[in-house]
Amino acid sequence: MARILITSAIPYINGIKHLGNLVGSQLPADLYARYARARGHEVMFICATDEHGTPAELAAAKAGKPVAEYCAEMYEVQKALSDGFRLSFDHFGRSSSARNRALTQHFAARLAEAGLIEEVTESQVYSVADGRFLPDRYIEGTCPNCGYDKARGDQCENCTKQLDPTDLIEPRSAVSGSTDLEVRETRHLYLRQSAMRGKLAEWIDSKTDWPVLTTSIAKKWLNDGDGLQDRGITRDLDWGVPVQFDGAPWSGMEGKVFYVWFDAPIEYIAATAEWADANGLDEAAWRRWWRLDEGAEDVRYVQFMGKDNVPFHTLSFPATIMGSGEPWKLVDYIKSFNYLNYDGGQFSTSQGRGVFMDQALEILPADYWRWWLLSHAPENSDAEFTWENFQASVNKDLADVLGNFVSRVTKFCRSKFGEAVPEGGPDMPFDAATRDAFQGYMNNYQRHMAEMDIRKAARELRAMWALGNEWLQAAEPWALYKQDEDEAAARIRWSLNLIRFYAIVSAPFIPDTSDRVLEAMNCEDRTWPSGVETALTALPPGHAFTVPDNLFRKIADAEREDWQARFAGQRA
Ligand code: MF3
Ligand code: ZN
Repeated sequence: MARILITSAIPYINGIKHLGNLVGSQLPADLYARYARARGHEVMFICATDEHGTPAELAAAKAGKPVAEYCAEMYEVQKALSDGFRLSFDHFGRSSSARNRALTQHFAARLAEAGLIEEVTESQVYSVADGRFLPDRYIEGTCPNCGYDKARGDQCENCTKQLDPTDLIEPRSAVSGSTDLEVRETRHLYLRQSAMRGKLAEWIDSKTDWPVLTTSIAKKWLNDGDGLQDRGITRDLDWGVPVQFDGAPWSGMEGKVFYVWFDAPIEYIAATAEWADANGLDEAAWRRWWRLDEGAEDVRYVQFMGKDNVPFHTLSFPATIMGSGEPWKLVDYIKSFNYLNYDGGQFSTSQGRGVFMDQALEILPADYWRWWLLSHAPENSDAEFTWENFQASVNKDLADVLGNFVSRVTKFCRSKFGEAVPEGGPDMPFDAATRDAFQGYMNNYQRHMAEMDIRKAARELRAMWALGNEWLQAAEPWALYKQDEDEAAARIRWSLNLIRFYAIVSAPFIPDTSDRVLEAMNCEDRTWPSGVETALTALPPGHAFTVPDNLFRKIADAEREDWQARFAGQRA
């Protein structure tokens, strides 16, 4: 029994996430959380919405709503979708919470005390008409390279050239279109990350078990010429955590907020405090997960994220934690992901390309998506979603193999023996070779799940489903029934037990299906099976069950083509 703290990168508030976002952090984190709970560990699984920053402000402006109201609404939308995908967070918080404001200001105060914060004067583009400074990407103009007239101040989307706002021809504000822009001086606070370079390098070097993807990105940022630079942690914005230090102002910082990437990871901690608040628990309840001096010494902390988030979690956030000089829990293991592409291109939120979480659930139940996404998780390289592959995987793995097994066995039993586990024959009609093969897959499955090798785990699970199906095919209880009813009954009893076994071990991947099956099998005990052999005698003769409705439906070609066409363009 261990205590495992699990966080998923917190999704930006501005809009519904696509399936590429989902498989890059929240969904695999959920798989791991469900597995860890099933194995009896004490789990705290935390996520939240990332609500601050310019993108949130602008999305609210576009929706014609005050930003706080916009965020409150989008939080509910994202919450409903994460429930729809059965993401089993212990708490889904909000980075705009009072808890996060207080904790962010607390960390800032400790960092200031440690001499790790300094003031820097910068020149930035100011829009007179908008009455605000504009971040580079909110300045638009004509690209000096290709003439595209909607190039952004950081990059031209048309020719991909990296730009400076001053490179743009006829620059204008992307907020209002105003060309009344000027360069003004503004003061900001910087976190002296470079002062912590040695400590961070040593810490990362000690993480010899981290995935290559994680450490390679971390080391690249640490060692590159422009690697671990001091970074601005304040912004000239209205929306965010006010720049204060344990409530005390910093002269010259009035009206400014902390940079969204400074407060967002602190929300992992704050959301755990929000969890305690929501459940009427005291401070100790959440602090035992986060404070080494208050019980977190034996916590294992695992983070899940897409590769673009790795620098912030291997360098910036640890710099905040270490720099505070307080005994907060640092991450123990970072599982990071490559990108999932969509049908020959990229998923894109700004272009509305691909399938988004709400659309996916309108088409098919969560388990279909969970199974495909997890069994194709972009672990060692980028992966690609195609409708053909999705159709094949659903029809074969879920419908033909697992679904078919459950339906055949339960229906046959009902017609010949009634809706109760039949008596007769030996306890274990499995031959030794099949039993060993089965146990081998199960051992591999558990090892891969513990190591978060998701694709490999899915492969072993699928192998268990397939082996049961092949065995049943050969065992032929329906043919045997006429000559040897007793032996046929034993094989069906074993098969019914196998259904229960599948439901328990598959639950982290397909929780709804698992629930339905266990309900039909009239089985409340979800104890993780200690071994295949003993698991197959769990349901005794006479145990009543019902035949569940078809677990999975197949995707027809016409339907697939329909979806292919519907999701080929941009989201409306
Ligand atoms: N909102 C960010 C993204 O979607 C992730 C933030 S993770 C946290 O890329 F560490 F900041 F919380
Ligand atoms: Zn260009």
